[in-house]
Amino acid sequence: MTNSETKATLSFSDGSPALEMPIYKGSIGPDVIDIRKLYGATGMFTYDPGFMSTAACNSSITYIDGDKGELLYRGYPIEQLAVNGGDFLETCYLLLNGELPNADQKKEFVATVTNHTMVHEQMQFFFRGFRRDAHPMSVLVGTVGALASFYHDSLDINDPHHREVSAIRLIAKMPTLVAMAYKYSIGQPFVYPRNDLSYSANFMHMMFSTPCEPYKTNEVLVRALDRILILHADHEQNASTSTVRLAGSSGANPFACIAAGIACLWGPAHGGANEAALSMLEEIGSVDNIPHFIAQVKDKNSGVKLMGFGHRVYKNYDPRAKLMRETCYEVLQELGLQDDPLFKLAMALEKIALEDEYFVSRKLYPNVDFYSGIVQRALGIPTALFTGIFALARTVGWIAQWKEMISDPEQKIGRPRQLFVGAAKRDVPPIDKR
Ligand code: SDX
Repeated sequence: MTNSETKATLSFSDGSPALEMPIYKGSIGPDVIDIRKLYGATGMFTYDPGFMSTAACNSSITYIDGDKGELLYRGYPIEQLAVNGGDFLETCYLLLNGELPNADQKKEFVATVTNHTMVHEQMQFFFRGFRRDAHPMSVLVGTVGALASFYHDSLDINDPHHREVSAIRLIAKMPTLVAMAYKYSIGQPFVYPRNDLSYSANFMHMMFSTPCEPYKTNEVLVRALDRILILHADHEQNASTSTVRLAGSSGANPFACIAAGIACLWGPAHGGANEAALSMLEEIGSVDNIPHFIAQVKDKNSGVKLMGFGHRVYKNYDPRAKLMRETCYEVLQELGLQDDPLFKLAMALEKIALEDEYFVSRKLYPNVDFYSGIVQRALGIPTALFTGIFALARTVGWIAQWKEMISDPEQKIGRPRQLFVGAAKRDVPPIDKR
């Protein structure tokens, strides 16, 4: 971060003294105006509901250019990382450490993560408190938060070693907990992780194998899942990452912070959109129904949105959506489902929306969630678990951002202010006078 030679001057039409504020430049992307002295100098706050024009921090992890449709993890384009940049654990190493691992570093990192994939044996008893049909995200919010009750030896957030151990534990145990949530929901026994399998193959083994017969993973499907995890790993200061940072700014332990991130991701406007997008496609049912559905979306009173479309930052195509569509096609081809009606419906809906003035004028393009539901369904993942897979992938991004925040000398507890529009000070009347 460097000082710009240009300053920002805030002047007032009532002749109040102008305020000069510094402007900082990053390495790429928009500059920022440092408004930290604004309240002290003027007694006024900025007003920015939804933080449309607010940089809450400086970061070197992920960069998004919404106009170009560009996404970089530590400077590397997502297209390169997801297609020929190695596997998800290499991306995890990159996000956590700032550089891609060499062969020895990768071998050590994979071994460390692999040897933390089991959860404490008592964790299984938490599941018994949930209904079998509980939404998996409710199970994950509960069980990830509960990890803090087992790992007292890595809760000192000011100890870099504790932060490192917690990071590995969370990355390693999320697949195990997500698979346990699935097994619990279908009444099958939990499957222990296997150290001889890769991260994504191990997850599919824990999800789909049973004690009754050998389970063989399909390498094309494993690679597809690995790519889905890479695409979802991090995404700058999105709602759930900002939730993790805000929780972490109070000094809360990493397990509590990640549980908070999971809770936020659950929302249909955020990570819950993949589940909602598939339900939307199933509700539309056929290409013939698309015009009626589009008409509903355009009718503001309907409250109907085109799920999997639109994005706060991408005002061009979400680069992840293109890669997700390619992955979708590969998986459906591998499974002989290339005529999958939902995939054909999704492509028809995308084509119609991209030619419709309503969406074009609002810069609404498919986002990462539009195709991810179709490919996850083809992989055998139940719709209710789609957002759990998103949380599994995003855990590394949340942890990398949390670690960056904790070690940032500028960081303070997050405490936004407000524009108060309620009742001014008044006296409490006796009840017979109300
Ligand atoms: C994710 O932030 C991230 O980076 C998130 C994420 C990540 O990796 O962490 O990328 C993951 O959350 C992707 C987004 C998934 N959500 C959805 O697909 C849900 C559907 N999309 C919308 O709810 C919406 O597009 C948001 C929430 C994603 C973005 O909303 P904004 O930026 O606040 O935009 P807006 O709601 O102000 O919309 C601008 C206009 C409005 O119309 P007008 O009032 O101008 O007439 O576009 C309309 C909106 O009504 N609009 C939509 C729409 N999204 C916006 N209309 C129909 N369908 C939609 N999907």
